[in-house]
Amino acid sequence: MNDIGRMKVEELDTPVLLLDRDALERNISRMRDLAAKAGLKYRPHAKSHKSPVIAGMQLAAGAAGVCCAKLGEAEVMAASGVPDILITTEVVGRSKLMRLMAAARQSHVAVVADDERNIAELAGAAQTAGLRLDVLIEVDIGQGRCGVQPGPEAARLAQVVAGSRWLRFRGLQGYQGAIQMTAGFGDREAQVRQALGRLMETAELVRKSGIEVEVLTGGGTGSSIIDGALHGYTELQPGSYVFMDSKYRGIEWPGGATQPFETSLTVLGTVISRPAPDRAIVDVGLKAASSDHGPIAPVGLAGATYAFAGDEHGHVRFEGGRCPLAVGDRVTFVPSHCDTTVNLYDRYIVTKGGYVEDVWDIAARGRVQ
Ligand SMILES: Cc1ncc(COP(=O)(O)O)c(C=O)c1O
Repeated sequence: MNDIGRMKVEELDTPVLLLDRDALERNISRMRDLAAKAGLKYRPHAKSHKSPVIAGMQLAAGAAGVCCAKLGEAEVMAASGVPDILITTEVVGRSKLMRLMAAARQSHVAVVADDERNIAELAGAAQTAGLRLDVLIEVDIGQGRCGVQPGPEAARLAQVVAGSRWLRFRGLQGYQGAIQMTAGFGDREAQVRQALGRLMETAELVRKSGIEVEVLTGGGTGSSIIDGALHGYTELQPGSYVFMDSKYRGIEWPGGATQPFETSLTVLGTVISRPAPDRAIVDVGLKAASSDHGPIAPVGLAGATYAFAGDEHGHVRFEGGRCPLAVGDRVTFVPSHCDTTVNLYDRYIVTKGGYVEDVWDIAARGRVQ
């Protein structure tokens, strides 16, 4: 074991992003089991972890490939040897199409589209590159983000793709992110049924026009258990389950059962000031934990709440007014949104039993183009 392997977590400089290896491995196995029990493929979303190492663990656990949100993420995964990638966001513009073709020469890369002009440009780029590109039509199943409306327009675009010599129509993508964190299980289930229904009806329409729909892809961590039971998708795209941020930890599982996924990702900070009896200042601010899903959650400190206090600072306040922390004390936080917090760091410090076990690059961090 090298020096890093013997370092205690408390000895690390902070703020630092910690990844509990055992919890990560359990989460990966549990999603594998969920998909296997449902008899569905799964293609985890690498936008959450941005790490070829974690992608490798997911593939070793039977994932069909990975999803990437951005071409830049896909380039990193392809260069690291991930063999099968779906880019779940439209790729637009000449330079990006050239990059897409370069990635498609390295790995099997499929992409979504929702616009006829973009489809023509994808076909042109594939022709120039001398390859046949897999394309899925993205359908807006309720989120109001990208995607063509369900029904005839989606079926028409499927025809356009299927009619191109340089493209291969693979199927449809429908992702409804707005319902993934609906806390009540019953409400979430009803919302997922409605969204998935839109995708399945559209798939039926495409099939009636004589085109095979091999892949119906979508879903996230919150809908995974429902998607598994409904059997609408052929392939699930969960991302956050590897880490489980505090926002996701709050959602209900069926029958009041405990969620199968556990927190593996935390941010460790240090108390750098004790300016008043009721509060401590920690070195974890907006540059060390994202706030788009609300404040991060202090771990193991009864009555403590966190509030962002600037780019580099945070307040930890205590109910009742007595703060037990001293300058130099370490405080662990659960991020409120794992994807955007991970994007702030260059590497995971991988821990096991309170010791540093490994360091993994967050190789696709910042690859937003
Ligand atoms: C298209 C798509 N699929 C899947 C996911 C994964 O969702 P989650 O992180 O909630 O599991 C996302 C996340 O935003 C997404 O945008």
